[in-house]
Amino acid sequence: MQLLSIVAASFSLGASAALASPAFAAVDSLSPVISRRANSSSQAGPYGLNNVHCQDVHLKVPVSSQNIVFKDVVDNYDNASYVNQQILDYSTGMTNYTEKHMTQQKKTVNATYDIFGQYCTPKEHAKKNSSLIVAVHGVGFDHTYWNFNYKDYSFIRHAASHGYSVFAFDRLGCGKSSKPSKGGFSVVQSPHELAILKEVLRQTRQTNNVGGSKHSKITLIGHSYGSVQGQAISAQSPDLIEGLVLTGFSTNSTGTVPFFLAGTLTIANEVPDLPQLKKDPSIWLATASSQADSSQFNDPLYVEQGANKLARSSAQPVTLGTLFSISAISGPSMTYNKPVFVINGEEDLPFCNRNCDTPVGGGMTIIQSVSMLFPQAKNFTVATLPNTGHGISAHPTSAQGYEEVLSYIMANGL
Ligand SMILES: *[C@@H]1O[C@H](CO)[C@@H](O)[C@H](O)[C@H]1NC(C)=O
Ligand SMILES: *[C@@H]1O[C@H](CO)[C@@H](O)[C@H](O)[C@H]1NC(C)=O
Ligand SMILES: *[C@@H]1O[C@H](CO)[C@@H](O)[C@H](O)[C@H]1NC(C)=O
Ligand SMILES: *[C@@H]1O[C@H](CO)[C@@H](O)[C@H](O)[C@H]1NC(C)=O
Ligand SMILES: *[C@@H]1O[C@H](CO)[C@@H](O)[C@H](O)[C@H]1NC(C)=O
Ligand SMILES: *[C@@H]1O[C@H](CO)[C@@H](O)[C@H](O)[C@H]1NC(C)=O
Ligand SMILES: *[C@@H]1O[C@H](CO)[C@@H](O)[C@H](O)[C@H]1NC(C)=O
Repeated sequence: MQLLSIVAASFSLGASAALASPAFAAVDSLSPVISRRANSSSQAGPYGLNNVHCQDVHLKVPVSSQNIVFKDVVDNYDNASYVNQQILDYSTGMTNYTEKHMTQQKKTVNATYDIFGQYCTPKEHAKKNSSLIVAVHGVGFDHTYWNFNYKDYSFIRHAASHGYSVFAFDRLGCGKSSKPSKGGFSVVQSPHELAILKEVLRQTRQTNNVGGSKHSKITLIGHSYGSVQGQAISAQSPDLIEGLVLTGFSTNSTGTVPFFLAGTLTIANEVPDLPQLKKDPSIWLATASSQADSSQFNDPLYVEQGANKLARSSAQPVTLGTLFSISAISGPSMTYNKPVFVINGEEDLPFCNRNCDTPVGGGMTIIQSVSMLFPQAKNFTVATLPNTGHGISAHPTSAQGYEEVLSYIMANGL
């Protein structure tokens, strides 16, 4: 299930617009970019991959967001032909679609959701004074993306092997979190979901709701749409995090349309091999087949069938409103002055059109140009992971990639 990228595409539009803004032009120097190919030789941290214990977390999350007002759309769409038509219209003319269906108006939407997650800590050797890692999954997954139960792939196990705790939660509509039954455009959209993430981070810092204590130091790690949200946090509420790791992310939209079309999104409850979504209200969409997932997300050249199957069995849905409003939460992180690490599969489809090392001008590659969003970041570093597509967690290289992430986190005192 790998719609994540869609996210990317619309994100790119928003980011380019933001980069062209006078505020951004006023920045005369960018922070230096440290760039490398992932080459971690570590297989796991000193405490081993079984050093982990997870507990369930249930949060009550009240939100009030300023949602985009869509016009001339069917808010509670309920058939595949309507969904198809919207996706074709959007894919073949994003600007036209946006002009036709998205207004400048905002509407306050208030709601309270149950958000489910897992708080996973080392059984032994918990690192003192380290940050709690809060993990935000992308489109098509739930929190288990971060605890992918295949071979040595799990990010959460790698974190615990170095003494780190992770809180990974299910985004709205996914896994065991609340799933609105109405408002496929008006309610379930990016500004609303970003408000949920802000409140989750606030509770993690200021209450004992996550793991029984307050956490004054947080490193946020995102994947795909989760990275888009994480980047938006660093732009809008930088005080909520001390460090940021973006995986499966860029500001380039060339791969968006191929990614979007490869997904063949349809009404989730009608997809025969997704029993876990059988009862989903019709506003929730999923990819039509595991082949679609493979094109979008689990690069067929490198991903083992068992891993693709596991990803399919935990596939999660998305709405049209989310996909079409991603650009609304994007823009440069003007004041964020803390560490940023970006790591992508070198062959990421949605964010790199299958080559993150493609030069894009200014002496930079696609992945290096993410630096444009972070004029003041500390130790801005990017890495590409060879033989890897968009969904890093399902690839044999995930252990190497996640060891890179953890070595950055440790080296930066997070
Ligand atoms: C990884 O690459 C960096 C920079 O390219 C280099 O300094 C480092 O020694 C390499 N590490 C390994 C384990 O090869
Ligand atoms: C699908 O939904 C659209 C929008 O509500 C409606 O106009 C159309 O008639 C529906 N088509 C089918 C086949 O049900
Ligand atoms: C987009 O809109 C313009 C002007 O309204 C029109 O000329 C063009 O054909 C449209 N493009 C598509 C792909 O619909
Ligand atoms: C929505 O929530 C905000 C903030 O809590 C509150 O000020 C506002 O009155 C609420 N609006 C509605 C319509 O309930
Ligand atoms: C942990 O942080 C506290 C307060 O910031 C500091 O007093 C203490 O020395 C730190 N401990 C270690 C092991 O770094
Ligand atoms: C995006 O990447 C493509 C290569 O995939 C490149 O041709 C294009 O110039 C890039 N766009 C921007 C805005 O950098
Ligand atoms: C930047 O991060 C690298 C790890 O990628 C680390 O080796 C280095 O010490 C960091 N630099 C600073 C100034 O913290």
